[in-house]
Amino acid sequence: MNKVRKAIIPAAGLGTRFLPATKAMPKEMLPIIDKPTIQYIVEEAVESGIEDIIIVTGKGKRAIEDHFDHAFELETTLAEKGKLKLLEEVRRSSKVEIHYIRQKEPKGLGHAVWCARRFIGDEPFAVLLGDDIVRSEVPCLRQLIHQYELTASPIIGVQPVSDLETQRYGIVDPAGKEGRMYKVANFVEKPALGTAPSNLAIMGRYVLTPEIFKFLELQEEGVGGEIQLTDAIARLNEVKQAYAYHFSGMRYDVGEKLGFILTTLDFALQSDELRKPLLEAMERIMQSEYMTRVIG
Ligand code: G1P
Repeated sequence: MNKVRKAIIPAAGLGTRFLPATKAMPKEMLPIIDKPTIQYIVEEAVESGIEDIIIVTGKGKRAIEDHFDHAFELETTLAEKGKLKLLEEVRRSSKVEIHYIRQKEPKGLGHAVWCARRFIGDEPFAVLLGDDIVRSEVPCLRQLIHQYELTASPIIGVQPVSDLETQRYGIVDPAGKEGRMYKVANFVEKPALGTAPSNLAIMGRYVLTPEIFKFLELQEEGVGGEIQLTDAIARLNEVKQAYAYHFSGMRYDVGEKLGFILTTLDFALQSDELRKPLLEAMERIMQSEYMTRVIG
């Protein structure tokens, strides 16, 4: 069995939910505290044993390439000033080998993955979506790769969501369960409210086998007029059994405003530097909210 060595990180989306911030800056560069969201994703891939990463970019995404490149002037200045800890942080993001390819048309996630087919070749590979950050003891992708090593089958990372949320995700229709692994009968992208076959939602982590590219090539537009990765996985599942794995860890949605704010708060609460002053500030905010609401 081939090892999972390569990963695709799609990053061509327009980031309309964060306009105007994303007018001139890729949404993947928005920071949670002091680190761009895409760096959390790249670090998870590396910690999961991935050796080669390809980022699928689009127009206006140059800052991503600059971020993972050496910053000669900055590094020299930091070294001269003796700011060695910061220097180490800045260098960290340029140590990984990253390749780039452009998605020339905004045709959706399935098309973005298909754009990287030549880079992947005939090997199993991972896909990590930048809107989902996962904090866990064992990196989320590592958990999926482990299941792939046991089954040699496509493994899709899932977590349960509420009935109201199923319409925002790819949802699996499970046919059987063993521990945290679900044999999947079907996959449905963003089912209409009340029609979801389960509450198990795809959370932006996949281990796929190269046959998927045949299905992506033929895949017609689905929900939102886009080529959906979920639809192609459903086709693949008809000839090669895929599994959904309920990974352990806390998943953060940084693809929408409230999720982004809550992620920032949660990460700040876990920081030695920020926890205490943040809690104090929050207490003051809550108190003044209470005073205005109750006392007026
Ligand atoms: C994408 C996928 C969807 C998945 C979601 C996870 O949707 O198409 O299946 O559940 O990511 O974040 P998007 O949020 O890009 O519309």
